[in-house]
This record gives sequence, C-alpha cells and structure tokens, in this order.
Amino acid sequence: MSYKTKLSSRDVTPKTLWDRRKTLKLAPWVLFQGLFFLPKLTEARDTVGKKLKSLKDKLFSTTEPLTAYSKATSYNNYYEFGTDKSDPKKYAYQLEIEPWVVRVEGHVSQPKDFTMNELLTLAPMEERVYRLRCVEGWSMVIPWIGYSLSELLRRVAPTKDARYVEFTTVYRPDQMPGQRKPILDWPYTEGLRLDEAMNPLTLLSFGMYGSFSPNQNGAPVRVIVPWKYGFKSAKSIVSIRLTEKEPQTTWVKASPKEYGFYSNVNPSVNHPRWSQARERRIGEFRKRDTLLFNGYGDQVAKLYEGMNLEKYF
Ligand code: MTE
Repeated sequence: MSYKTKLSSRDVTPKTLWDRRKTLKLAPWVLFQGLFFLPKLTEARDTVGKKLKSLKDKLFSTTEPLTAYSKATSYNNYYEFGTDKSDPKKYAYQLEIEPWVVRVEGHVSQPKDFTMNELLTLAPMEERVYRLRCVEGWSMVIPWIGYSLSELLRRVAPTKDARYVEFTTVYRPDQMPGQRKPILDWPYTEGLRLDEAMNPLTLLSFGMYGSFSPNQNGAPVRVIVPWKYGFKSAKSIVSIRLTEKEPQTTWVKASPKEYGFYSNVNPSVNHPRWSQARERRIGEFRKRDTLLFNGYGDQVAKLYEGMNLEKYF
C-alpha cells in the first residue's frame, strides 16, 4: 500500500455521493432517533430470564447463604394471582409487563411518567443481598438488583408538604385472577413515611439473582424494604404518590388490629394471632430468633427514636 502525499480535485468524492453539509443537517435527526427510537425498540424486549448488569454492593449486603432461586420464585405472596403460595408462579405469566409506565406524582415539583427504559437507566444498578421476613413467620435471603428509591424521588423534587409515599400496584383483573375476587381491596396499595422511603436501604428493584425478576416476584418494578414485614414491599408498581397525610394501605384496611402502617420487624410486638419472636428461614428446619428491624437497626433505628413501637406497630 502506498499513500499519496498530495490530493488533487479528482480525489474529492462527488457531491452527489456524499454531501457533507446535508449529512451534518441530518446528524441531529439520526441522534434523535438513536435517543428516542432505539430505547422504544429495546423497551419492547422480553426481559424474562435476561441478565441485568449490576455492581455488587458491599455496604448493605448480608453474607448469609442465599435462599435457593427455585424457592424464592415458587413460594410467593402475590394475592393478585391467588392466596396459595404456588399461585403466583402458576398464573403470573398472564401479566403483560411491556410497555410499562410508573407515574410519580403528588407533592412534587416535577411530576413525571417514567418509562421502564428511563427507570432502568436512571442510576447505576446495585446487587444487594437482603433478608426479607414475612409477617407469617418465614424469611428468605435474596440478591435483589436495583438502586435506592431516593435516586428516583430526588429527581421529582418532593415539596415541603410531602411527608409520605404511597405505592400502587397495577390493577388488571383480566390478567390477574386474584383481582377478580374480593380477597383484598384492589388495587394493592402500600405506604412509607418519606424519611423511610429516602433511607438508602429502601430499594427500587428490577431484578434478582443476576437477572430481571420473574413476574411472581413483582416485575417489572417493585420496592424492597428489608427492615419491615414483607407486605410493605409492593410489587408491580404503577404509581408512586407523595402525600401529606399517611396513606391508607391495603393491609391496614383489611385488618387494622393485625397490620399497622409501620410494620417494622419486631420480635417483641406480636401479631394478635401469633408470636413474632422466631422465624423459619426457607430451606432450613430449625427456627431462628427474629431480630429487631430484621437486623438492620444500625441503618434505621434512628428513624423511630422516641416512638412507642407497640403503639405504632
Ligand atoms: N405486592 C402485591 N402487589 N401483592 C401482594 O400480595 N405480597 C406481599 C409483598 N408484596 C404482595 C405484594 C408479601 S405478604 C410479601 S411476604 C412479599 O411481597 C413477598 O415477596 P416475594 O414473593 O418476592 O418473596
């Protein structure tokens, strides 16, 4: 190969083949397509079983052995699909999770409808291995993938009137057989105080065990609040509303004597029908002692200083 040191006019590409000015004019359009059209294409993808890249989180993760994936995805509470532990795995495939939009509204300066693509790229994904203890007395250890909910809430700029956050699960009786029965007051709603929602432990989660979550675990997006009983961690969320007053939650409405708004894991405050002192880790035989705030006291005990936890259970 040899290179010419001097260029003549014959070396110039004819304008009919490549017009630099025209191409430059087109560039913003191409960029626009890249930014807006491509994400729409990727949004139409099927995420079931797909890998989800994340950074390992050392700060909040427990090193306890993980619950088997098969157990974590087949022994579920997701009443929209039925009350039996095996119902969610059986029926949750019926829920269409694409496209999906999460409305963030209420007492915020910048309310917004977030597409899944916007949510998936909003902040770096982290893998956090959390203990989750169900109010029924069993617990699991699951590597969740997501980022702190505070990342999302900061972007919508809560106003000074925002004191609580209400989460609402999708309402689609045609795709969720449990919603065709009056098991609970649908749609499922849950709530947190704003400072609980802003605590870095509170995770907005999209995946588990290295991949996107299966529907029975709350795809495409849910929260994980590891120091509270499992029912506070609402699945398949479509609305996040910042409110001034404490939101009415599904379980408080269903049975206010049994389920409180706070529902912090607490071995010394019993459920009226059973003790909360011990729990069975799924996959283990012997029961173990339940820990105050599910063992996350270092991160969250300060949120409840001076509060009577028996009254505010
Ligand atoms: N979210 C909705 N929408 N519906 C539910 O029935 N069950 C809750 C919580 N989130 C529930 C829900 C309960 S009681 C528990 S213990 C956890 O989901 C279980 O989450 P997992 O199945 O991913 O372990």
